[in-house]
Order: sequence, then C-alpha cells, then structure tokens
Amino acid sequence: MKKSNSKIWGGRFLAPTDEIMEEFNSSIQFDKILYIEDIEGSIAHSEMLSKQNIISKNEFNLIKSGLKQIKSEISNNKLNFSVKLEDIHMNIENRLIEIIGEAGKKLHTARSRNDQVATDVKLWLRKRIDQIELNLKSLQRTLIEKSETYYDLLMPGYTHLQVGQPVTFGHYLLAYVEMLGRDRGRLRDCRKRLNELPLGSAALAGTSYPIDRHFVAQKLDFTKPTENSMDSVSDRDFAIEFMSSSSLIAIHLSRLAEELVIWSSDRFNFVKLSESYTTGSSIMPQKRNPDAAELIRAKPGRIFGNLLSLMTVLKGLPMTYGKDMQEDKEPVFDTAKTIELCIINMEGMIKNLKPIPDKMMEALQKGFPTATDFADYLVSKLKMPFRDAHHLTGKIVLLAEKKEKTLDNLTIEEIKTIVPNADTTILDVLKIESSVSKRTSYGGTAPNNVLQAIKKAKETFLKD
Ligand code: ARG
Repeated sequence: MKKSNSKIWGGRFLAPTDEIMEEFNSSIQFDKILYIEDIEGSIAHSEMLSKQNIISKNEFNLIKSGLKQIKSEISNNKLNFSVKLEDIHMNIENRLIEIIGEAGKKLHTARSRNDQVATDVKLWLRKRIDQIELNLKSLQRTLIEKSETYYDLLMPGYTHLQVGQPVTFGHYLLAYVEMLGRDRGRLRDCRKRLNELPLGSAALAGTSYPIDRHFVAQKLDFTKPTENSMDSVSDRDFAIEFMSSSSLIAIHLSRLAEELVIWSSDRFNFVKLSESYTTGSSIMPQKRNPDAAELIRAKPGRIFGNLLSLMTVLKGLPMTYGKDMQEDKEPVFDTAKTIELCIINMEGMIKNLKPIPDKMMEALQKGFPTATDFADYLVSKLKMPFRDAHHLTGKIVLLAEKKEKTLDNLTIEEIKTIVPNADTTILDVLKIESSVSKRTSYGGTAPNNVLQAIKKAKETFLKD
C-alpha cells in the first residue's frame, strides 16, 4: 500500500508526520484559549464570502450554525482536541467538516492560517487590553480614595532610602496614580495601533477572490484592514508593544510592592498589611509574611522574560510567516494573565492598608527632614546665598545630632551659636507640619495641593 499523510494539508506528502514532531509542532495545548476569537473571525469571514457570492448563503448559514455549535462544545468541555490537528484553527475546521460536511470545507477559501492566527491573537489581545485598562483604573480609584483619607498624614519622603523631606501619605499615593495613568495611555496607544484587520491577506500575497476586507474589518470592529499583505502576516509588533507596556506596569507595581514589603517590616512599621494578603510561616509562629507584595515584586522577572523571548524570536526573522511565530502565544498569554493578577492583588492590598502615623512621624523626626526649610529660611529671611545657607544648615544638623535632638527641639539659643542673627520665627520653620504646608508649588505635597490634585486625578482618570 502506498504511504500517505492524512493531515488537512497532507496532499503532497507521502510519509506521515513523526509522533515526536507532531507533539513538537502542535500548539493546541496553549492556543485553544483562542477558540472564541477564531470562531468570531470565521463567522465574519464566511459572511463576507457569502455576501461576495464566493460561497452560497445556505453554505454560510451552515457554517455559522456549525461554528456556534463548536463554540458551545468547547465551552462545555465537550470537544476533544487533537494534537494531530496541530492548533485551534485546524481543530475547529476539522470539527466543522465533521458536523456540516462539504460546506465546512469552503470556510478556508480566501484565507490562510497566517492571516487567521494574526487576527485571532489581535482579537484576543484587544479584549485583554480593555480588561487590563479597567483593572488599572480600578486600582487608581482605590489609590485616590486612600489618598483622600490620608491627604494630610505626614510621612518621610525618601531619596536614596534616606529621609529627605516630609510629604503626605496622600501625595505619595497619588504618585502611583500618575504612573498608572501613563500605563493606561500606553495600553490605549497599543490598542489603537493593533486595531487593523490582517484577515484577507491570505498566506502572504493577498488573494485572487473578490473579497471585501473592509466589510470584515467592520464586522470585527477593526478600524480598517491592514495595508500590506506581507506585513500583515509577519507583524507581531502589537504583541511586543503589549508586553513592553505590561513591563512598565510591572515595574511600577514592583516598586510599590517593594515599599509595602519594607514598610510593613518591623524595622519600619509604617503600614499594616491586611491578613488577607499575608501568610504565616510553617515553622516560625510569630511571622506574617507579605507574600502578595513579594510576588508582585518578583513578577517582572517573568514579564520581562516574556518580552525578551518574543523579541528574540522575531529578531532577524525573514518575512513573512515562519513557524517561529507560533512562539508568540505563550509569552503573550502569560503576560496578560500575570499582569492582571498583579493589579488585582495590589488593589486588594491597598484597599486594606492601614498606615501607622506614629511610626511615620518617629522616622521623620529622626531624619532631620526640615533641614532644607532651615536653609530656605536663611536664604529668604537673612538673604544668604543658597550654597552658604546649605553649609551652615549642615552645621545645625551636626549640632542636633550631637545633642541628640530633633531639629524642631533645638532652642533659639542653640541655633544662635551657629546663626547669630536668627530670630524666633525659625522655630516654626523647623516644624514638620509647617514644612509640608509650605510646599504649595504646582505638584507639591502641601495638603491643600493634595486635595486639589485628588480632584484633578478624579477628573482625568475616573471619568467615563
Ligand atoms: N499555529 C500556528 C501559529 O500559531 C498557526 C499558523 C500556521 N501557519 C503555517 N503556515 N504553518 O503560528
């Protein structure tokens, strides 16, 4: 008997595919999550084929109802996927032919898996991007609400993880609202650029059938069809853009997570994390570990890895499609899932976060945080050049350190030993509250500014 290959594409083959190769070549294990998008795309494609009289109306109706049946079979876990059928596209097509017969064989007219897979991934990613943007917005809302509660709570602002100047907890939280706002903007940009339909580019060169790509684009809610068939099937920029936007989100979240880890540690004790987001130790009964925060701190490892892995796959890849491109899916899927989980868990932690004002104040006072205010006083009141003022202030700090006092506990006599013409108004300048309330420059930390900033952030980020 003559050898053959029973694959959908097996016509020109004499030998069957090696089982080891079959396993290696298949993507159904992970691309099955694209089934909804694959079916959506196929319905739009076949509707267009019928509108253009490439297939009959009756064939379209059969295809559509067959695809709907397959969708419910898959949702109910009733379809057994086969590795032999490689991927979700061929598993669905094969099942369609099983259900509706001859008409099913017409679905693949005027398209290829190359334009099909690019379309499916774009459709899938578009939904994920919309969801992630909503998650980010919700996290922003939670941060804004917290900052409203603590708009005037004093805490140390750090540079080099050394106490710098006093700020308010509300101001600090709003910093993350800004970061997440930029992240949302990047996701929206990415969505806008990806929203062009590849389907109808066929394998790489377009097709000789009289198709209507604009119709399909409109059906699937793309702004327009892609302009160049070769670019359409070889483009994965959108996946890279998504993963790089996600990398920045992961960076931002990991910084916040790291602060939660440090601040909830017993050395700092600035905040208390809810028990719902911490875990116990199996050996040390006293422990309450900030696991959620630590995981969010760690996830950039995966997310950057995913980005780098696809960049490496695409680098130097000749046009147009290469099987290499099947390697796009796992990193993209994993990134979407991971970043969503990070955002949701971060929101849970922030919602339940309790600052400990006394501890923040204690750390503040130890850090001489009003030293800059003292220098500013020398400049504005005593007309000293800033550099000289900076130097003299250093001496004041030394004095306080020697006397083991905070700056606002120094007496005017003590101050006068270094700045003879200082007057008692300086005593107020050295107070932490007065330092903060004077930081009224646009974007500054004064509680009144923070209230304004909260109002603006609500308008900018929480509307619609
Ligand atoms: N599973 C394939 C992928 O994800 C679908 C495209 C296959 N195209 C091909 N010419 N072999 O990339």
